[in-house]
Amino acid sequence: MNIKYDENRQVFLINTEHTSYGMAVTDGRYLCHLYYGKRIEDTDLRYLLREDEPPFVPSENVRETGSFLDAAYMEYPESGMGDYRESAFCMRDERGFRASELSYDGYEIRKGKPGLEGLPAVWGSEEDCMTLKIWLKDELTGVRVTLLYSTFADVDVITRAVTVENAGEEAVYLEKVFSACLDLDDRDFEMMGLYGSWARERHIERMPLGWGRRNIASFRGESSHQEHPFLALVTPETTQETGEVYAMNFVYSGNFMAQAEKSQFGAVRMTMGIHPEGFVWKLAPGERFTAPEVVMVYSDQGLGKMTRTFHDLYRSHLIRSRYLHEKRPILINNWEATYFDFDEKKLLEIAREASELGIEMLVMDDGWFGKRNCDDSSLGDWVVNEEKIRGGLSSLVEEVKALGMKFGIWIEPEMISPESELYRKHPDWALQIPGRDITQSRAQYVLDFSRDEVVDGIYEMIAGVLRSADISYVKWDMNRQLATMGSLALPADRQGELYHRYMLGVYRMQERLVTDFPEILLENCSGGGARFDPGMLYYSPQIWCSDDTDAVERLAIQEGTALLYPVSAMGAHVSVCPNHAVGRVTPFETRGHVALLGTFGYELDITKLSEEEKNLVRKQVADYHRYNDLIREGDYYRMESSMSGSAFDSWMIVSKDKGRALVFAVQVTAKPNGKSRFLRLKGLDPQQMYRVEGRTYRGNVLMNAGLRIPSVQGDARSRLIDVERV
Ligand code: DGJ
Repeated sequence: MNIKYDENRQVFLINTEHTSYGMAVTDGRYLCHLYYGKRIEDTDLRYLLREDEPPFVPSENVRETGSFLDAAYMEYPESGMGDYRESAFCMRDERGFRASELSYDGYEIRKGKPGLEGLPAVWGSEEDCMTLKIWLKDELTGVRVTLLYSTFADVDVITRAVTVENAGEEAVYLEKVFSACLDLDDRDFEMMGLYGSWARERHIERMPLGWGRRNIASFRGESSHQEHPFLALVTPETTQETGEVYAMNFVYSGNFMAQAEKSQFGAVRMTMGIHPEGFVWKLAPGERFTAPEVVMVYSDQGLGKMTRTFHDLYRSHLIRSRYLHEKRPILINNWEATYFDFDEKKLLEIAREASELGIEMLVMDDGWFGKRNCDDSSLGDWVVNEEKIRGGLSSLVEEVKALGMKFGIWIEPEMISPESELYRKHPDWALQIPGRDITQSRAQYVLDFSRDEVVDGIYEMIAGVLRSADISYVKWDMNRQLATMGSLALPADRQGELYHRYMLGVYRMQERLVTDFPEILLENCSGGGARFDPGMLYYSPQIWCSDDTDAVERLAIQEGTALLYPVSAMGAHVSVCPNHAVGRVTPFETRGHVALLGTFGYELDITKLSEEEKNLVRKQVADYHRYNDLIREGDYYRMESSMSGSAFDSWMIVSKDKGRALVFAVQVTAKPNGKSRFLRLKGLDPQQMYRVEGRTYRGNVLMNAGLRIPSVQGDARSRLIDVERV
């Protein structure tokens, strides 16, 4: 890794081990984009600006400044002066004018990577990171923008963030502060994103990039089930191993917009940042605004390399939990077993049976507090319901511990039920617009987490519960999207800050929680997987993937999730059949295999399992202990995808030293009269010998000729196959 500035040529070059990113100052003021791709060394790159082609450099042809702004590859394009593609920055001044002229104003290169005020961010030490800061200044208003770029010694990633300071004398209103923009010549790009819905999160979509703009966005106040803060441009025919990929992922859990725009001259502009809808940030003199971070990955070896780069970055530079590199306790969660209908007796029955089968932690889900017997009350009343949990929480926890198990608890701190003591006491704590009805969803309102006293009040209640018993795990849920966006505490000219201030409040409380309770394993969740994003991973090493626990549905959900996020972060449980979300029946064994390739746990009434199923639980528990180190720490390779219509789905995890691997292969739909197939493995050492099911093969044989997988009868039949170097 290094960052160079060539003073004579006014060219910046940021290098990771295998990639480079270049920029140049042109005309003494415009910061233009030069290059992003495979690593290069030289800074003799100004020819990439096409300065000798019309439209000319503005100072040499003032008549054509408009044409220049309309076509040049701008590093941080702004609105209002003649660049008609998507801008990255838009501000309004006190007089109501919407424009800025951000001119180059110097740079700084330093070791390490600064944190981002109040925000989750990728981190690194002075040895493994370097940061470039480029300053831009709008002379008229005194607004200063700092573009931050960090590079890493061990991963081919460049992170970007932006801060805006008002060094002027009057307030300005930031209407858009994107975190990244990337201008590229078109290479017939296709666009990739992740889409979904509740219980159908993160399905992969790939489509040709047409003319005009296509964006992926959320203004639901969360990263969302529906769209995902990820965008990639890939060259045609890109596969797991071949093709070029330019990817961006947003380290943020709130509103976002990611866009690809193919404009005249075949230029493609990729942008990512906080969604401008509903966003206006008043920046008074002396104030600073920090826009969240974008992670950029370039791969010249297809999607597989992109995926492994994201996994490595998130495991070594984002997730902070002490559990990251630890085998996490196998849990059993009572949600799908009981929903709200439980008491301490039922929980102990589950725990007793579970502990006998080797399960290590009981998680008490929604319904333990206030008067909550269904989803229409009590959010905000974080007091144990002793009619349900007779004897109180600490007595239940002690009984669970006496069975040799740990105890975990569910919370939903950001919400308030209109039917709650808290709402009776603090009706003003809910997000609301005076004179309008508050939009209900799941019979609940959203708390105004932009207010410190709200966050602190909720935190104290929840911390009290956590201190009252020996709690090892917390599942932080968030079950509705934001609406009726008004805060009774913000002045009129700051209401446009609410969405982002809400997120800052959520992050502040999560930070407090992980700081005050470092021993607690935190799992984030949002009505399934509506906030499975890098922002949340900064606080919790695992996130509940989806409320759909069907093994077949999970193949697609987990494939889309693992496109970016380490398998060790994917919350996955074995549940009963017919599955509650889709009614499908799948083999118990397959449900176990699919969950083993995530964090692994159970979510069913274990007291109702047959002896045969209990034996399978014992086997799955043994498999978990056998494979989890490999699954958690290894490299992920995808072979087949049922999402793309194949009857098979397969992937594997290979240890970093290539000495061990685990193959997962499933026949999703059976076909009559079939023969065996040869599954080409990946990621092994081509020259080494490996033992697979009692036979030895050379790595290059397994990867080129393939491993024979016999045809079986039945749908959703899966296998786990051990591969070990001899
Ligand atoms: C949504 C979560 O995804 C479920 O696992 C469960 O915790 C429910 N909320 C409880 O309300």
